Amino acid sequence: MHVAIIMDGNGRWAERRGLPRSAGHRAGARAVRRIVEAATRAPVDVLTLYAFSSDNWSRPPQEVASLLRLLKRYLVSETARCLENGVRLNVIGRRDRLSPDLVRTIEQTELLTRGGQNLQLRLAVDYSARAAIAHAAVLTRGAPCSPQEFERKLAEAVHSDVGVPVDLLIRTGGERRLSDFLLWECAYAELVFVDSFWPDFDETGFDAALREFARRDRRFGGLSRALPPSYSRAE
Ligand code: FPP
Repeated sequence: MHVAIIMDGNGRWAERRGLPRSAGHRAGARAVRRIVEAATRAPVDVLTLYAFSSDNWSRPPQEVASLLRLLKRYLVSETARCLENGVRLNVIGRRDRLSPDLVRTIEQTELLTRGGQNLQLRLAVDYSARAAIAHAAVLTRGAPCSPQEFERKLAEAVHSDVGVPVDLLIRTGGERRLSDFLLWECAYAELVFVDSFWPDFDETGFDAALREFARRDRRFGGLSRALPPSYSRAE
């Protein structure tokens, strides 16, 4: 099962406490640790987290710098925990606008954790679904291809080796939009919107979202529970 999360509400969490937005992002990183651990205990094969969108470059430079610093620190500090818990980490998105130092850290973490069998954790950084789809179209060089072949190109476009569809998309923070996240992969995703801010999201909320997902009747355009037409799936 593939779960994707739009981790929204760090800024508002901090503002409510009279703290700088960077404190909200630090609290958000602690929530990431909690939810990754929860996912390793749940029937989740792939967890994709939206850590930094391509549109986030438009935030003030200090906020951008603090987010990217936090991400680097997370990669360095979590490698050991990933190895312990069988987590394979992969950063998806563009890399050409990240600092060479961050790109090196990403590559090292991916290499060290590549044997993880329990969970694939994908962090979306400088990620835009529309840009990824456009890039995948360029990679096909205009040649007709099957949906599976296009998915492989889509994965390649964002430095991922899996192009799996999303089963459950969770968004915290009370807003109800997709914000250019995994637009192709969410074709048949079940959407769960949660009002709590991301730093307050915990295993109880995560389990509640999984239970809500289990209650949904997925028909994929058909009349009864079925697999989506063009995918082979692991559930
Ligand atoms: C949205 O909240 C969140 C982000 C733009 C960044 C998400 C980053 C983290 C959770 C922490 C770092 C990640 C890792 C993997 C270590 P917002 O700032 O838009 O909140 P707001 O809507 O309340 O302003």
